[in-house]
Amino acid sequence: MKLAIIGAGYVGLVTAACFAEMGNEVICVDADKAKVEALEQGRIPIYEPGLEDYVKRNFQENRLTFTTELAPAVEKSLVIFIAVGTPQDQDGSADLSMVLQVAKDVGRYMNGYKVLVEKSTVPVGTAAKVRQVIDRELKARGEAFEYDVVSNPEFLKEGTALDDFMKPDRIVVGCDDVRVGELMKELYGPFVRTNHPIIIMDVVSAELTKYAANAFLATKISFINEIANICSMTGANINMVRQGIGSDRRIGNLFLFPGLGYGGSCFPKDMQALIHTANSLGYTPRILEAAEAVNQDQRRLFLEVIRRHFKGDLAGKVFALWGLSFKPQTDDIREAPALTIIPALLEAGARIQAHDPEAMAATRQHLGDPPAVSYAPSSYEALNGADALVVCTEWSKFREPDFERMKSLLKAPVIFDGRNLYNPDKMAKLGFAYFHVGQKEL
Ligand SMILES: NC(=O)c1ccc[n+]([C@@H]2O[C@H](COP(=O)([O-])OP(=O)(O)OC[C@H]3O[C@@H](n4cnc5c(N)ncnc54)[C@H](O)[C@@H]3O)[C@@H](O)[C@H]2O)c1
Repeated sequence: MKLAIIGAGYVGLVTAACFAEMGNEVICVDADKAKVEALEQGRIPIYEPGLEDYVKRNFQENRLTFTTELAPAVEKSLVIFIAVGTPQDQDGSADLSMVLQVAKDVGRYMNGYKVLVEKSTVPVGTAAKVRQVIDRELKARGEAFEYDVVSNPEFLKEGTALDDFMKPDRIVVGCDDVRVGELMKELYGPFVRTNHPIIIMDVVSAELTKYAANAFLATKISFINEIANICSMTGANINMVRQGIGSDRRIGNLFLFPGLGYGGSCFPKDMQALIHTANSLGYTPRILEAAEAVNQDQRRLFLEVIRRHFKGDLAGKVFALWGLSFKPQTDDIREAPALTIIPALLEAGARIQAHDPEAMAATRQHLGDPPAVSYAPSSYEALNGADALVVCTEWSKFREPDFERMKSLLKAPVIFDGRNLYNPDKMAKLGFAYFHVGQKEL
């Protein structure tokens, strides 16, 4: 099929590369000229394992092209995926300006029947808004082309995005027409050969499904963090409690790790957007609000532990900080815990020596290079002369470090572990002051 993917970010680029991999002819459009130029030269603007190979191969074999020009992409394609950002607006709602701009341009350039697919995460009712915008454009042009608007939310996870896209647990398609449902089934057929379902539903249900999925996962994280906080007061061991409940199949072991709370480009904004949707309908979503409140508190509590250890005086202290991305295997720092922890430590007069395998450039750009923050080329170099180590992201290489070497580099053997990577008993034997999430308060 001839496809256009609008937006070459974490979702758009993966979508484009994977559809091309299956033999489709894909035009990927992005408004960012520098991004498109980089992609045309074989440089991938984001870190996503495996993506470079896919993009290069399909680009070289002419199934995948990149452009800043929306008009020819719309004219040549039957199915047009909108994969632009839907960031949080000031009132918590999803900012739909980029989605509606694309809808407007599609209305302006369409030259026959098109299927417009919402791949971006958009609130209930967006398909109707997209229709209004397109109809207005078509009317102004004096045209009456037929088209369908489909909701096809994306469930990929950064860090394993290719695998998630190529072998999805399920595909959700919201559409109001049986024929367009069949078309989407045909498009996605090669991805579900292991019989994972393509679930066809109405548009509104599909739009809500994405928010419900993210809200559930975010709530699961806040739930285990709340239990960890109760553990810290009762002396119960959160690692044991986690295993004890996770082995119940109704609960499951996944997504049950206490830590610094959820971050990233999706959960925080999608929770806010869903809360906003509910509130605007006169409903108070108490579970969602509580999950958000627990999440906001989680980083504050962690900072409290650090402050308490240093008796409230962080001025002049040097912190090694491992992990800047919001989770491992990505360079995405949107809503990353480190971006809360670093400014708070800086404000208290501390200095930071940070290391991350992939996210240092993005962090440097985000923070604007304050003199009290330096970036170390390796995790060990970050420890040099530091008063303590703070672990913010659970990259694999942080899991089994050389503790003796760490001790020799740190000024004092102190670790604040926001990801519960290490065994507390082992750390005590090694002579570390080791603070983790859910630890009994002293
Ligand atoms: N990142 C994820 O893990 C993930 C997972 C599932 C769903 N989503 C959803 O997918 C959507 C995209 O997320 P993302 O992380 O890929 O965003 P992103 O910011 O990485 O990428 C969006 C891209 O769209 C481009 N763009 C903006 N306006 C444009 C226009 N008018 N024409 C062409 N290009 C334009 C931007 O330049 C950018 O490259 C969001 O709604 C998000 O909630 C994201």
